[in-house]
Amino acid sequence: MKALVLSGGKGTRLRPITHTSAKQLVPVANKPILFYGLEAIADSGIKDVGIIVGDTKNEIMSAVGDGKKFGIKVKYIPQEAPLGLAHAVKIAQSFLKDDEFVMYLGDNLIRDGIKSFVDEFRKKKPNSQILLAKVPNPQQFGVAELKDGKIVKLVEKPKQPKSDLALVGVYMFDKNIFEAVHKIKPSWRGELEITDAIQYLVEKKFNVIPHIINGWWKDTGKLEDMLEANRIILDTLKKENLGKVENSTIEGKVVIQKNAEIKNSTIRGPVIIGENCKIFNSYIGPFTSVYFNTVIENSEIEHSIILENSKVKDVKRVADSLIGQNVEVLKSEKKPQAYRIMVGDSSRVEII
Ligand code: G1P
Repeated sequence: MKALVLSGGKGTRLRPITHTSAKQLVPVANKPILFYGLEAIADSGIKDVGIIVGDTKNEIMSAVGDGKKFGIKVKYIPQEAPLGLAHAVKIAQSFLKDDEFVMYLGDNLIRDGIKSFVDEFRKKKPNSQILLAKVPNPQQFGVAELKDGKIVKLVEKPKQPKSDLALVGVYMFDKNIFEAVHKIKPSWRGELEITDAIQYLVEKKFNVIPHIINGWWKDTGKLEDMLEANRIILDTLKKENLGKVENSTIEGKVVIQKNAEIKNSTIRGPVIIGENCKIFNSYIGPFTSVYFNTVIENSEIEHSIILENSKVKDVKRVADSLIGQNVEVLKSEKKPQAYRIMVGDSSRVEII
């Protein structure tokens, strides 16, 4: 059995972060989202992994390498344009050959991993198995209509969903999926939809079975989802201090990574502070992840994700935010007093 991981796409809902970097590499609790998926794949016993890459190919390749650190062997498959999930399957055919495979969308996070899902597929040997989860906003997903536990119909982002069961971004297929991806036509958004390909299998009476998950799952395409995933994962971490703490109060679940320095500050977990960070005279509140080499001074931050090599100084107070790499957020002493801002395209700044 093989795995096909999708790590192309434009990540439009996470701009401006995704103008310069891959959405699959945004860290959640200081680990790139994609790594959670690769670990779940390795944990299910799959070793041969194809990764579909697009414009952010170089970045993904340098983060994942040959896959050895995850216990897998990676082959990169370039997709010249994001033409849809079913298109990705099409271009991966020479890698997948006749093997069964799990397809994993690189921006999806699933608490309980995929081992039980993969095991069920191995045991029951259907032509395809889909993973479903109840969501409050099914219009934003592929939606499954079931009758007596069987799949009746699958529709991509329906205006009037027939159920609240969304297609999670993890699917299992045998070689019959290739017939389907060659037969379907692009959708209104110009993409070959995997949902339509699976619907084709259902119509042609192939055996497609559902597996409903109860644990949480997140498609981290948007800021709110990212912050929620960060909250949930931070809560599962164990307290650890590999840094230097001086004259500070550390409360609750706090992970301090190597060479981080914390002085005259209060850190209230769950929080993770990355390698080589400096936190001086500051308050870092619950559900905050600070990636490596970032400096926070005389500031208060909570419920936020801050990426590497950034600086927050003399700012009270930052919340519900995603701050990119090499960013500076500072208080200005210059006259005239004013907001002096240089933000990227598609950014959002809320001020008080
Ligand atoms: C894709 C699929 C959709 C699925 C979702 C899960 O949506 O098309 O059926 O429910 O992933 O993350 P997209 O992220 O392309 O909007």
